[in-house]
Amino acid sequence: MRAEYQNPRFPMSIFLFVSLCLPVLASADQFFGQVMSDSKTPIVGAMVTFRFGDPFQEKTVFTSEEGRYQIAGLPGSTDYTVRVRRIGWHDLVTDEVAVAQENGALDFTLLRHTDPAMVAAQLPANHWYGLVLDRVSSEYEREQLVRQCTYCHQQGNEATRVQRPVEEWHKVLSLMARMGGGLDAEFSAKIPELFNSAYDPKTAVPKLTKGFDQPGFAPPPSEIVRRAVIDEYQLGGRASMQHDMIVGHDGIVYSVDMATDHLFRLDPSKPDGARESFAIPSGDLPLGGFGPGGALPSNTSMRVGPHSLQVGADGDIWITLAVGNKLARFDTVEESFTIEDLPGGIYPHTLRIDSKNRVWYTIAVSNHVGMFDPATGQHEVIRVPARSFGEEVMLRMLPVFLWAGQYIDLGGGGGEGASLPVPYGIDIAPDGGIWFSQLNAHRIGHIDPDSFEITMIDTPFTAPRRMRFDSQGKLWIPGFSSNLISKFDIETRQFEHFELPIEPLGTETPYSLSIDPVTDDVWICGTNSDSLIRFQQASAEFTVYPLPTMVTYTRDIDFSADGGVWTSNSNAPAWQIETGIPRLIRLDVNGTIDLPLVDSVGSNL
Ligand code: HEC
Repeated sequence: MRAEYQNPRFPMSIFLFVSLCLPVLASADQFFGQVMSDSKTPIVGAMVTFRFGDPFQEKTVFTSEEGRYQIAGLPGSTDYTVRVRRIGWHDLVTDEVAVAQENGALDFTLLRHTDPAMVAAQLPANHWYGLVLDRVSSEYEREQLVRQCTYCHQQGNEATRVQRPVEEWHKVLSLMARMGGGLDAEFSAKIPELFNSAYDPKTAVPKLTKGFDQPGFAPPPSEIVRRAVIDEYQLGGRASMQHDMIVGHDGIVYSVDMATDHLFRLDPSKPDGARESFAIPSGDLPLGGFGPGGALPSNTSMRVGPHSLQVGADGDIWITLAVGNKLARFDTVEESFTIEDLPGGIYPHTLRIDSKNRVWYTIAVSNHVGMFDPATGQHEVIRVPARSFGEEVMLRMLPVFLWAGQYIDLGGGGGEGASLPVPYGIDIAPDGGIWFSQLNAHRIGHIDPDSFEITMIDTPFTAPRRMRFDSQGKLWIPGFSSNLISKFDIETRQFEHFELPIEPLGTETPYSLSIDPVTDDVWICGTNSDSLIRFQQASAEFTVYPLPTMVTYTRDIDFSADGGVWTSNSNAPAWQIETGIPRLIRLDVNGTIDLPLVDSVGSNL
């Protein structure tokens, strides 16, 4: 069969993927076969991905110890393109599924990469970013770099690891600072030399690909991981930023597109993974809304900036409109929005709904936590303590600065932005207590839900981000710039840390975590390494699930009753993602377990 061997790098690969694949009708709804090297040895742990539909969906399985794969649950009677991918081998992309035997048998042969630069290009971003971090000797600077430069997009992916003239770097850094990714001036001045030297292919490629032709390089995922099936659903367009996602009632999945002010809805039970979108009313707000000012990417049409979402007890979807300074409520039956103005604060961020149906949300820029009770119309805006008197003054003056920023160039926040306290993640304890993190201040806080009294606690690690309670009432917190998750006991006030196992150690930036409501497993975003990470509490064991698309920036995780672990690819800008368009992603850890094993001609084993 005809197959194209291609360089995995994009945008070239996107071009090839699209232009060389003239899909052929294939009627099978399941396929099986073997992935072998050209010297006839099985390739273990290759990802076999079937793409179909428009907007497309991709289903991925892994090959076994014998190089075998099996994929089922495809829609049938449709066009497929297939990609087979394994680090160290040329991506194989083919459309000739029609040549599969009638029973769905389809084998593939992969060719080894001989050029180390091609192998280096297949590695997730964190491997490249590790080269930068290795060169930063000051812990203060390293922490700042990780916290400030990795919260919109990955660092070290193909778009960001480009060497640039110093002047170009200054332009990039100035734009990043205006969007909120500021570094202090002294450190910022070192960035061009730091990145250019770390990303010099002459030194980077040999380091990243040492021993790439030896068996120990880029080991295949474990047998446990290889049972997984991964579904990816293309969502939105090149200007999209699918921020958070949530599984609603009946397994319907919702996602908010911050850059285009839309709520998306996916029904995974439909064979074509039906996707719809709803424009969130923005009234007469200007571009950028009331947001904290600064620059907007040129292709954004954000006026309200939907950021996070949760499902209410009645099935309605509650959404924070970060730059519109509002809350939205989406009635899933009427398919209509109600917009709730907020009495104060700037940038409503992450929200949770308590057992009395009250909506609690962090307010990131002005350092507040808000509460809205839809039953009574009561609003509370609770001021979170700053770390010092100076910071308090700065925060109280913020609305004036933002107002003035419309008229005078205030330099985009830069260094100050890097250190202002930012209320971030939030969750509700079994006893009804409200817990939140204060990202840049490296603290968590407790709010009494009745008296609104606040207690702050320093975290013994940096950048606590999105946190969750497990069924035992323990609070799990990811340390975004400290490469760990921490378990906090709200009774004893003790923290217990677990370092993330992502290689090279210290290069991961866990944006968020969620707790599986059935197993109490902690699922962590492998934000900079194209992965989802499971932590099983009983065995204290981590399992890393690699995700098939390069530049998969994960931001939030939720679970469906059928065992799906859901997340989104939220890299902003979307054009850095391998296909240029965000996705919703479903991981089924035991997706292949019930399939009968078949041999190479389709007989049951
Ligand atoms: C608030 C979100 C945000 C943060 C934080 C951020 N970036 Fe970006 N970055 C973007 C966006 C959006 C783009 C795309 C800009 C465009 O296409 O105009 C981008 C693009 C880039 C690019 C590619 C530029 C190009 O034209 O190829 C580099 C390199 C980069 N960022 C580095 C950084 C560094 C270094 C930091 C930390 C100082 C950082 N980013 C922090 C949003 C962010």
